[in-house]
Amino acid sequence: MDSNKRPKVTVTTLGELYAAGQKITVVTAYDATMATLLDEAGVDVLMVGDSLGMVVQGHETTLPVTLDQMVYHSSAVARARPSAHIVCDLPFLSYQTDEIDALRAAGRLVKEGGAESVKLEGGRTVARAVEKIVNAGIPVMGHVGLVPQSVHRMGGFRVQGRMTREAEQLLEDAKSIEEAGAYALVIEGVPSEVGQAITEAVRIPTIGIGAGAATSGQVLVSTDLLGLGRGRAPKFVKRFASLGDEVVRAVSEYVREVRAGEFPDAAHSFRMKEGEKAPGRGAPDSEGSGT
Ligand code: KIV
Repeated sequence: MDSNKRPKVTVTTLGELYAAGQKITVVTAYDATMATLLDEAGVDVLMVGDSLGMVVQGHETTLPVTLDQMVYHSSAVARARPSAHIVCDLPFLSYQTDEIDALRAAGRLVKEGGAESVKLEGGRTVARAVEKIVNAGIPVMGHVGLVPQSVHRMGGFRVQGRMTREAEQLLEDAKSIEEAGAYALVIEGVPSEVGQAITEAVRIPTIGIGAGAATSGQVLVSTDLLGLGRGRAPKFVKRFASLGDEVVRAVSEYVREVRAGEFPDAAHSFRMKEGEKAPGRGAPDSEGSGT
């Protein structure tokens, strides 16, 4: 084992961070390369989010993502053997049908995908599914507020809980997910006051995304955080780098060098063994010298 590796982050560790009042850091990862980099940077949790439907697959929503695809991406992240905890999303319609479907889907993410916990969206309506999965020994992270799998019910990706009645319902949803045994709860796309009220009302860590600063931790989509996406980012996104611009700069330089015959140069090329001749240019200087 690499002796510099930090200890594995488990749901117990996350509970300890919460109890100590230390903010929990979560970033999405969809492959082994990004998982390795994020882990080296010290994030607590790698989230294999179904946002990959939009970020990796280019869909308009997360709805087309399948369970097989989540297993594929989760196992790629798990192969990086990160110290960070791995939570993987249950995709649309893998858990809403009934609790047995939910448990089977969660089981696949753990058994085949190497996930260490699973996340699902919704409140009271999915509480029994949460309970079933938790009772089978799989930790569950809830997700309330702007729940992307319900994009059509919400009439788009819109901030939720701006009105008192809607905010009260979100609070009830959060409590029901806590009561069902979830170890943590994502709160997405709600006013800061609602993020704070839910955080104060439950005794599990809340992980905010567009939910203000009072939550127990924060999550961002990795491509947003790194500035890899083109186009306008949502208001809650802070780009901590502009890697998209850096990618374009680097690849343009590659294109220029290839076209100019500058790449590959000698430093990036192989040579035959001394005395050997290239095919069609005569016999080697001495027989057997190439062995
Ligand atoms: O799918 C996802 O990546 C998520 C986070 C943005 C919370 O659910």
